[in-house]
Amino acid sequence: MKKNEFTAVVPVAGAGTRLRPHTHTYPKVLLTVGDKPIIGHILDEISAAGIKKICLVTGYLGDKIKEYVSRSYAGLDISYVEQPEPKGLGHAIWLTRRAVTGPVLVMLGDTIISADLRKFLASKDDCIAVKEVSDPRRFGVVEVKGGYISGMVEKPEHPKTNLAIVGIYSFHNSAQLYGSLQELVDSGKTTKGEIQFTDALAALVRAGHKLRPLPIDGWYDCGKPETLLETNRYILDNKKFSPKAVNSLIIPPVYISPTARVENSIVGPYASIGDGARIDSAIISDSIVNEKAFVSNINLTGSLIGPSAAIIGRKDQLNVGENSEIRFDKTVCDQ
Ligand code: G1P
Repeated sequence: MKKNEFTAVVPVAGAGTRLRPHTHTYPKVLLTVGDKPIIGHILDEISAAGIKKICLVTGYLGDKIKEYVSRSYAGLDISYVEQPEPKGLGHAIWLTRRAVTGPVLVMLGDTIISADLRKFLASKDDCIAVKEVSDPRRFGVVEVKGGYISGMVEKPEHPKTNLAIVGIYSFHNSAQLYGSLQELVDSGKTTKGEIQFTDALAALVRAGHKLRPLPIDGWYDCGKPETLLETNRYILDNKKFSPKAVNSLIIPPVYISPTARVENSIVGPYASIGDGARIDSAIISDSIVNEKAFVSNINLTGSLIGPSAAIIGRKDQLNVGENSEIRFDKTVCDQ
């Protein structure tokens, strides 16, 4: 892989409130999706594009992120910048100004995509990934004129277009980007209580800077339990795994970590079983079981089981006579 000059900036300081209770004690980007934590997929995408220098902005539970990244990605040149207070994405990226020179690719810490990042790096223009979405109000939204971005607003109540900012941005000259962020920080301006990256970019556009919108199709959100499970299904559908289990039925697609132990169970479709997890006598589909969790004697679907959690169902012994009726689940209809 040809090395390129870009540095990737990946902000991972957020508290991931929409993924509580998991994120009370565990950083969002370390939650498993498919075969590895969210941040693992992002670092893989970045290094597959030939980028060797990465700067992570950590904050909330940052030590846990550092510990995972330094253990699993020792071959990459990764530096860390601390965002001590959650003052917004613009502030997080502004904090990296002394760690980055030359071209920069900003990739938000929960942006799993199926597109090739090299498209961004190869373009002569500075680019922002965009995607048409049905409800753009929870995103940054762009307007386009003559092939370039003519305006952008963070989470507008009345969006003028459906083109949402996906969370990948490339700039050939990081000094221009940091200049705009510096002016924003100096001005004290906030939107929705935060120093917004979108506001710094909108100022660049107003000053005549050309930003090309790059449409991408595959964008997989990890922000909420439903979207995390959806992204899990996408990853399992698109990668090949050889899950191993003892005395069990595996219904693909399934990922079982080589260090997990699965026995006497039915696993899949769409189950991800993380490192060191133990599954015994359980039925699990459309679920993610994070590292070191223990699940036994239960039927789970659409579930997220946190790291080191234990879910122990029941195994009953019955001695039931003719014409008796025993129901543990009232929702199962009459037969
Ligand atoms: C951030 C950006 C927003 C972008 C979104 C993509 O918002 O500020 O412009 O559309 O990421 O996920 P956040 O999701 O951090 O609120």
